[in-house]
Amino acid sequence: MKKSLEDHAARFDEQAGEYDDSNSDEYRACANLVIEHAAPEEDDIVLDLGTGTGAIALALAPDAKRVVGRDISEGMMAKAEAKAESEGLQNLDFGRGTFRKPDYDGNVDVITSNFALHHLSDEEKREAIEVIAGLEPRKFVLGDVMFFGEPDPEEPFYSPEVDDPATVGTLADAFTDAGFSLTAVERVHDQVGVLVAERMPTESDGVPGDDADDEAPADA
Ligand SMILES: C[S@@+](CC[C@H](N)C(=O)[O-])C[C@H]1O[C@@H](n2cnc3c(N)ncnc32)[C@H](O)[C@@H]1O
Repeated sequence: MKKSLEDHAARFDEQAGEYDDSNSDEYRACANLVIEHAAPEEDDIVLDLGTGTGAIALALAPDAKRVVGRDISEGMMAKAEAKAESEGLQNLDFGRGTFRKPDYDGNVDVITSNFALHHLSDEEKREAIEVIAGLEPRKFVLGDVMFFGEPDPEEPFYSPEVDDPATVGTLADAFTDAGFSLTAVERVHDQVGVLVAERMPTESDGVPGDDADDEAPADA
């Protein structure tokens, strides 16, 4: 992380008022793909990390049972809460939490994050992806600044002084090492994309593992 959590929080607190009016076409395309791939079911609990002013959280709330938003900027979350109230959405909770310490230990079915993970170093992203896998979601949908080709600070979306995006390959490795399978890769721009990672169900999800056969009666 090139800036501390406090620096990032202060930077986004400052931007919160104008944030929703300042987004690019690529940002909107990326957010729309995250929403489309997240596609929660009506009983699903969604956790949105780096939720900001709630672009993803608010869009998913009407289709989900509950959406939990986590961020480090109180200013951004105050905006999200005001928008949820004005839209009459009551199944959202916002609170402080980071990628590596989301401060959430309930059940979660779908985890989303849009345009936020790139603030972490590659090692920190790997740790965050392990924490996310540990929450045992069915699916993690990541929209973010990521490199499909050579990093180019002259191109939009990559400001080396505050951002630390990974290559798509580095993210794919981190996902698979954490037990996810990558099921979709969407390129929005050479430096923006969406990755969909899904976890194979395990015994703790109520799906019998290989050794269940060992316990079956011989004549079963
Ligand atoms: C560019 S905004 C994106 C907000 C929202 N996801 C969206 O799509 O509009 C990035 C957000 O990530 C948050 N953020 C940055 N570093 C974070 C961290 N380590 N943990 C949680 N949130 C973080 C910032 O406070 C900010 O609200």
